[in-house]
Amino acid sequence: MPNPFSIGIVTGSDFCNRKEERETLLQHIRSMQSVVLSAKRRIGKSSLVTQVLTEIENEDILPIYASFFKISSEQDFITTLATAIARSIGKAALDPRPLQEKIKSLFGRIIIGLDLEQDKTVLTARLGREIKFDYLLEDVMQGLFGYIEKNNMRACIVLDEFQEIAELPNSKNIEGTLREYMQFRKDVCYLFVGSKRRLLLDMFTDKRRPFYKSAYIYSTREIAKEDFVPYIVGQFSASGKICSTETAGLIYDTVEGYTYYVQKLASLSWNITNTECDSTIVKKAYASLIEMEEMSDFVSIWNGLPIGQRSALKAIAKSPALSIYAKEFLLLHNLSASSAQKSALALQKKDLIEEITKNIYKVTDPVFSAWLRDSERAFA
Ligand SMILES: Nc1ncnc2c1ncn2[C@@H]1O[C@H](COP(=O)(O)OP(=O)(O)O)[C@@H](O)[C@H]1O
Ligand SMILES: [Mg+2]
Repeated sequence: MPNPFSIGIVTGSDFCNRKEERETLLQHIRSMQSVVLSAKRRIGKSSLVTQVLTEIENEDILPIYASFFKISSEQDFITTLATAIARSIGKAALDPRPLQEKIKSLFGRIIIGLDLEQDKTVLTARLGREIKFDYLLEDVMQGLFGYIEKNNMRACIVLDEFQEIAELPNSKNIEGTLREYMQFRKDVCYLFVGSKRRLLLDMFTDKRRPFYKSAYIYSTREIAKEDFVPYIVGQFSASGKICSTETAGLIYDTVEGYTYYVQKLASLSWNITNTECDSTIVKKAYASLIEMEEMSDFVSIWNGLPIGQRSALKAIAKSPALSIYAKEFLLLHNLSASSAQKSALALQKKDLIEEITKNIYKVTDPVFSAWLRDSERAFA
């Protein structure tokens, strides 16, 4: 039996609940209203929007998903968006023509290449000689608009990890130009998704920025325990193993319900379960989870931080209930009020900490927080 838990994007029967979020997003999409979906990383944003896009597949709305996670230039932005549009049109059920024909002359300046990789056709956009961003974006958008008009469709474009464009050298121009396309079409809506919450929200709430007030602001949190526990029990039993409600609850609680870790801990527990999962197994699996995250993530995040931010982060992990300005907090962790404030701002921008109530912060990622508290190992 394959492991029923996944740490990739989940949809369909692997997708747990989120009924309310799905309905809200579907309503906005069907009425062509743009939405900003901001929430911490690995909480389930990409899975949620991907799931929602599959739910409109048979409607007159072309679902487009583009992720800007790895972009480093304006050209990357264009090729990512063009590829996403071509991929979606290639799959569009309402248009039965063969793929090649559908994407042949979709864009004027941008060429979509078809490559065969492991029996799958992979699309890649290539830019011609033209490199001026405004022209290229016009080419992409006009290609899309022309297609949906001809086919009597509308479109929903998901721009995942959208805040990355704010980090590009020429971000002002990208934001301004994109905003103009948004304004004049009633048949295209956008879902702006991102995990660097401060960066993303600033784009939409700062009066001086082009996207100011251009979309509904929405968020999502952990999946409720009462929904996730039956899901874990069900995935175990569907794959021929047993996990009681109590043990599934322990899996959920151990990682504070943090979506990615719930799946990963359940997955690791499943691996070492012969017939029935119990608390000893979950403990063992949790130890290997921390070890894995340490190697893949925590050490590099830690090493990437300046000393001041390291001290503040460790202090917040250890004293999450104290205000960062409290004497007790500053004395205990040997910090000055000004450096604590400066570091807290920087850490919040990176989304490594979040403000719970005024001046009281917690480390966003509960497993990272546990790792930070275990100071002997982490800071020897
Ligand atoms: N609705 C869901 N049901 C079950 N597991 C989920 C769900 N949404 C997300 N996950 C799990 O959480 C992990 C992170 O989800 P992802 O959508 O990539 O988060 P984000 O985009 O917020 O970083 C996924 O790999 C998957 O294991
Ligand atoms: Mg994501």
